[in-house]
Amino acid sequence: MIEIIRTLNQFETFRNNLRPGTIGFVPTMGNLHKGHLSLVKESLRQNDNTIVSIFVNPKQFGPNEDFEKYPRTLGEDNKKLKDLYRDEEFRGRLLTIFAPEVPEEIFPSNFSTKITVGDLTNKLCGINRPGHFDGVTTVVYRLFSIVKPHKAYFGQKDYQQYLVCKKMIEDLRLNIQLVPMPTKRDEDGLAMSSRNQYLTGTDRELALVLPQTLEKLKETIKSNFWPESYGLALELAGESKKEGDWDYLEILDAKTLREPSERTHTVILAGALKLGHTRLIDNKLVEIRYAR
Ligand code: PAF
Repeated sequence: MIEIIRTLNQFETFRNNLRPGTIGFVPTMGNLHKGHLSLVKESLRQNDNTIVSIFVNPKQFGPNEDFEKYPRTLGEDNKKLKDLYRDEEFRGRLLTIFAPEVPEEIFPSNFSTKITVGDLTNKLCGINRPGHFDGVTTVVYRLFSIVKPHKAYFGQKDYQQYLVCKKMIEDLRLNIQLVPMPTKRDEDGLAMSSRNQYLTGTDRELALVLPQTLEKLKETIKSNFWPESYGLALELAGESKKEGDWDYLEILDAKTLREPSERTHTVILAGALKLGHTRLIDNKLVEIRYAR
């Protein structure tokens, strides 16, 4: 059986009495799909205890974003986790859900701290979503301080979020290992996201432009030597942006999210595409090749 804990007090009691062993943590906003479940499985494999948080964090949504309509599906999420947990492979492992009943469990009305990571947050999603990453790092720090995990599992679809949280951990010396996990995709290549369900039939088809464009950029970079490959990919990105409502389509150094330099080994191809009121993000990492 999986215990679901709905208040901070109860969680703290649970945490203080938790059996010895490693703790893996999977922070989520719920509406779990196969991407989330792959993180939970990895945590169950690697740790004695796994805690999944389900919390739609008000601080990371802008005033005109989808906080109110974000899908809240605790019953279904619980069922998906139960099904997964039944697997023999996880016998003896403990899985617990922390799903705060109200936002005030995490952010009481007098809460006034904000965690801001500099540099990495002022590009890509940080440009058109001001304050978003402060909201993410503030809640992730808060959850880390409650859960006190050894490892935390993050999906690479939100690559910038992963990098920003990694930097916060390094800067604040939190002694938590971040484990990045590969993006899960539908059969046609679209990255899994809770926001995919907002798409109408036509937009769902148009959304494929996002992974397909990233794939073409990846092929261009893989099949040419750097820096020619960079020039060709920039050209292709410029052409691709003419079709569709792109928030961004960028080729950046995967460590710094800055323009690639002579020290770059891997680039990130990152895109954000708007379809009606829905904005989807995706990325691919590519190692660059220099001519010898
Ligand atoms: O990726 C998410 O679902 C959220 O940004 C996270 C990490 C759970 C923080 O609210």
